[in-house]
Amino acid sequence: MHSKTSNKQLTDLAASFGTPLYVYNANKITAQYQQLLTAFEPANTRFFFACKALTNINILKHVRTLGCNIDCSSINEALLAIRAGFEPKNILYTSNGIAFDEIETAVELGININIDSLSNLKKFGEKYGHSYPVGLRIRPNIMAGGNLKISTGHEKSKFGIPLEQLDELLAIIQQYNIYIAGLHIHTGSEIKDVDVFMKVADIFFDLVPHFPEIKFLDLGGGFKVPYKEHEIGTDIALLGTKVKEAVEKLTHTYHKNFQVWFEPGKFLVSECGSFITQVNVLKNNAAATFAGINSGFNHLIRPMFYEAYHRIRNISNPDGPVKEYAVTGNICETDTFAWNRPLNEVREGDLLVFDNAGAYGFEMGSNYNSRFLPAQVMLKDGEAFLIRKRDVFDDLLRNQIELV
Ligand code: LLP
Repeated sequence: MHSKTSNKQLTDLAASFGTPLYVYNANKITAQYQQLLTAFEPANTRFFFACKALTNINILKHVRTLGCNIDCSSINEALLAIRAGFEPKNILYTSNGIAFDEIETAVELGININIDSLSNLKKFGEKYGHSYPVGLRIRPNIMAGGNLKISTGHEKSKFGIPLEQLDELLAIIQQYNIYIAGLHIHTGSEIKDVDVFMKVADIFFDLVPHFPEIKFLDLGGGFKVPYKEHEIGTDIALLGTKVKEAVEKLTHTYHKNFQVWFEPGKFLVSECGSFITQVNVLKNNAAATFAGINSGFNHLIRPMFYEAYHRIRNISNPDGPVKEYAVTGNICETDTFAWNRPLNEVREGDLLVFDNAGAYGFEMGSNYNSRFLPAQVMLKDGEAFLIRKRDVFDDLLRNQIELV
């Protein structure tokens, strides 16, 4: 399997499709999924790809062919999943702050739903009573994740039903005889520490007796992947072992079987992605040497929005002497991808590649400054497929109503 995209492939793709260009290696997604299957093999586990990370329809179809399920964060993602051929029973809609009519649509589609507010749960009970199994998103009051913007389980988080409202929650369930089939907790993204997931398992352990019809325990996503050189991600094998132990304890204590669900996004698609850009302008001044590229935070917002680190490589001059650069975009405000970044000597026209660009890269892109969204290419078994065309001028006007 060619799960690593070579510099030669990237250079050839840039020549064929132009830059900026997103490239996704489908074989890497396969390898990551296999790693999950191996680590969790003994436990009764289902994985749902958190497709908010990357929704190109061809990526979704590839994920489906692996046998993976899919987690959605809007009804449109659920419709995309159906379009990609996922069966409703393999689709999960983990909602947050949504209008009740999206939950009604989800029920009509026959997909799994995690409800995250008492308000929607009440409406759900009034309309469906015990007729449709549903999961509950709980807020555990655990601080975890790479930074505050991607932490979701803490005491000030908008997500889920706070643990301290358990009595109210149980009263609503009882009042409408709601069929609670599962519990869900997602504490954040980029969680390296396996024990965070074990803390969640402990919370589930205490909650389970309140929900006699429960079948699944959903621990969300958030596995950390290495962004920096020599960085270590979540130890998936260790997590597999610990989850198995936790499930055995639950089964032993409560005399019933539980299915464990996970919703990995970054783990499946971060590392498969490369973002190829080209250097427009070199600018020297006392503070830095700027390498100004033909992209900006409109194409990859993670560095500006989260101060996220992405490895950047000069694939046009891989043996050049190493110097420090500020890598900046062409958007008309501060638009910095990296400061003081050692790179092989950069010349105008060189190709700079961003690694780990698969998750939340294109997906969070925009047309700010009326710039085009990049094209997307999927590599599968060494073959390249264009899976999204670069925008053209008409795309900027699409949906605008030009008054005369
Ligand atoms: N499940 C739920 C309910 C989620 O909210 C998320 C991510 C996931 C699963 C998948 O998390 P992952 O495995 O990808 O860490 N845009 C940010 C990340 C935001 C994550 C939002 N929720 C970034 O680029 O770092």
